[in-house]
Amino acid sequence: MNKEWWKESVVYQVYPRSFKDSNGDGIGDLRGIIEKLDYLKELGIDVIWLSPVYKSPNDDNGYDISDYEDIMDEFGTMEDMDELIKEGNKRGIKILMDLVVNHTSDEHKWFIESKKSKDNHYRDYYIWRDPVNGKEPNDLKSTFSGSAWQYDETTGQYYLHLFSRKQPDLNWENEEVRNKVYDMMNFWIDKGIGGFRMDVIELIGKVPDKKIKENGPKLHEYIKEMNRKTFGDKNLLTVGEAWCSNPEIAEQYSNPDGSELSMVFQFEHILLDQQPNKEKWDLKPLELLDLKKALSRWQLELEGKGWNSLFWNNHDVPRIVSRWGNDKEYRVESAKMLATLLHGMKGTPYIYQGEELGMTNIRFEELNDYKDIETLNMYEERIEQGYKHEDIMNSIYEKGRDNARTPIQWDDSENAGFTNGDPWIKINLNYKEINAKSQLNDEKSIFNYYKNLIKIRKTNPVVVYGKYELILEENKEIFAYTRTLENEMVLVICNFTESKAKFVFDGISKFKYKELLISNYDVDINQSVNNIELEPYEARIYKFIN
Ligand code: NOJ
Repeated sequence: MNKEWWKESVVYQVYPRSFKDSNGDGIGDLRGIIEKLDYLKELGIDVIWLSPVYKSPNDDNGYDISDYEDIMDEFGTMEDMDELIKEGNKRGIKILMDLVVNHTSDEHKWFIESKKSKDNHYRDYYIWRDPVNGKEPNDLKSTFSGSAWQYDETTGQYYLHLFSRKQPDLNWENEEVRNKVYDMMNFWIDKGIGGFRMDVIELIGKVPDKKIKENGPKLHEYIKEMNRKTFGDKNLLTVGEAWCSNPEIAEQYSNPDGSELSMVFQFEHILLDQQPNKEKWDLKPLELLDLKKALSRWQLELEGKGWNSLFWNNHDVPRIVSRWGNDKEYRVESAKMLATLLHGMKGTPYIYQGEELGMTNIRFEELNDYKDIETLNMYEERIEQGYKHEDIMNSIYEKGRDNARTPIQWDDSENAGFTNGDPWIKINLNYKEINAKSQLNDEKSIFNYYKNLIKIRKTNPVVVYGKYELILEENKEIFAYTRTLENEMVLVICNFTESKAKFVFDGISKFKYKELLISNYDVDINQSVNNIELEPYEARIYKFIN
């Protein structure tokens, strides 16, 4: 058992634009985050993953960076950033910077130079190709719709952008590019950060001429080099975003020898409610057995060989309570059940801002209330392809990224206490009912349930290091599993449905009952654990000893 601080930590993701506005311009900022550090301390988290705060023209809300060593004007100054790191550290909260180095903004000085001429020193920092038969070099597609190649008249060549036209891809084959990235990482490490979340890191080894995007032949060579030249000997948390990973690849990334990263963010479970080989907008209902299979596969295959990240939510995916819970009559129960399922597993849990309050998806009637470039480009593309407006809106309601990006609902005052100005995106009107203020002092709130789950992890090594085993594998209503470490075992039971469900299990005989650690209903603790009638979305964690 390899103990590491980041295995015992809980991470909280802040999407700064929507977190807390301190100066009334309608946009969240660094001082707003500093104001709320005590709230996060109260929740009990150890690390903040900070979505990008660098200088950016905001084509993709900061994931298009024009200066890696400066702060976006709307978010504040480098002094504010230094203060956030310092104030965080004072409270035992480390800051994880979002490292976006697959691409830069087209307004980054490297790209401005690169565009100027074919013999510019920075030309080879990006990926330029001649037209083929007067057209794009090949049919690679951008994640944000349309071709991944953009023609540039100055030199008559195309450049590659796997995301928006304003996010040209860096050329990782160029050693000077790699070294510039490493210097920049060291600049941030020297400021005392806790590590990096690495945006679409699986793309940096791409071979565009062979149409290889993810998992290119040199990917792991680059990550090992990065590790050696930056964080390798610093004991930081590093997590790579990897949509197209599998457990075998993840073993490489998160090898306990420490030569690459601490862990990856993988999305196999997140992709289960879309039609196979289609886009995320092509919807399909979730099957509980698929979810069990996907999550269990990662739990089992990484056992002793790597480390998992555990998450339901981030700024790119819909709110989990609206997605796989019930955001109406069982919002509180199902939010707690989903939290229980995840926080009982092996890996480092990530909470996305507002998840701890049970915040829900948004539904704007007007397309122009949506701000996300991915959503807006997709709408245009699908209209051109002949899709019906209503069908596209339905996909947006289910999967649009703005679902997760409406401002945090701090209290029931105007604009939910997020801003004194005009919010950059509309606030969810359910803030009168769902907000942090009303939950902090309510011991039955979702906030306090998350707080307890974190406490349970902190006080029970079995929750961090215990071995996972799925039970009742074929049961279509209940997701249940055990975790075992030496003479201790925990049993996690979750009813995934809005009806009652029977939990019958006789596999715990060699353990003695100790205690009920948590539950989202009032439970008679004298009830037998072998045979339980669960309420809708009921969840329990029991602890046993031998
Ligand atoms: C993944 C990020 O999470 C997403 O928000 C962004 O649009 C793309 N990478 C491009 O940086």
